[in-house]
Amino acid sequence: MTHLDGIPLIQLEQVSKVYGQFKEPVAALRDVSLVIERGEFVSIMGPSGSGKSTLLNILGLLDRPSHGAYLLEGVDVTTLKDGELARVRRDHFGFIFQSYNLFPELTAMENVEVPMIYAGVRKRERKERARALLEHVGLGHRLHHRPLELSGGEQQRVAIARALANSPTLLLADEPTGNLPSEQGRMVMETVAGLNRMGMTVIVVTHDPDVARWGTRLVTLRDGQLVADEPIPEAERHRPDEEAGYHAQTG
Ligand SMILES: Nc1ncnc2c1ncn2[C@@H]1O[C@H](COP(=O)(O)OP(=O)(O)OP(=O)(O)O)[C@@H](O)[C@H]1O
Ligand SMILES: [Mg+2]
Repeated sequence: MTHLDGIPLIQLEQVSKVYGQFKEPVAALRDVSLVIERGEFVSIMGPSGSGKSTLLNILGLLDRPSHGAYLLEGVDVTTLKDGELARVRRDHFGFIFQSYNLFPELTAMENVEVPMIYAGVRKRERKERARALLEHVGLGHRLHHRPLELSGGEQQRVAIARALANSPTLLLADEPTGNLPSEQGRMVMETVAGLNRMGMTVIVVTHDPDVARWGTRLVTLRDGQLVADEPIPEAERHRPDEEAGYHAQTG
């Protein structure tokens, strides 16, 4: 994606999603319109079943809208073929999920290398980059551990490093702290917020208001509709914790 002045990163126009169109159709999203600019940190909240994951999957090109337009840097991606969507995803999006989705038999380093293998990065560069990314998320001392030898929060930070492997424009997270005790969740969100401060656009789905407050803008869904879209007042936002002894470092 190139930088195009005045064109938002993301524009959804009256997007709807109907699952199971032929029997028992479910209107999971109804006429959702949304503009997201580069560098934003958007939190998406709403009750269970309100369409949060559906929206995130559409934003991340993991699923297609039933109706409406999705412009990514001004380009209508609803017309792209599956292979083209996969390429855009690989080159520009990083994903993290509640369940980490790491390969259990691979070490932290090897997990981070996987997307680079698909992108054709040479072994030496891959290893260097994997190491640097793991150091960046505070796991320089856990390079050769396998997922089961790591805490949940550490596993999620490996997943973040992996999501960053191909230098995405946009980081999408669905309940990234859903399986974590609060202290580990806080470290994961510190890491995500640090990436945002360095310029990464971030979209986080959560049912936890405390997690949402890492963002600068809150989008609320109810019954598949966007019912609120507001900045999070500065006084309510989290600040990087100076006392924590852990910081997402640059480089
Ligand atoms: N593949 C599917 N087929 C049919 N219905 C689906 C499918 N996926 C989701 N739905 C329905 O669409 C609606 C929205 O689901 P979605 O997963 O987006 O909700 P959510 O806000 O992420 O909920 P939660 O907080 O529980 O994760 C729900 O009513 C759900 O049952
Ligand atoms: Mg969900």
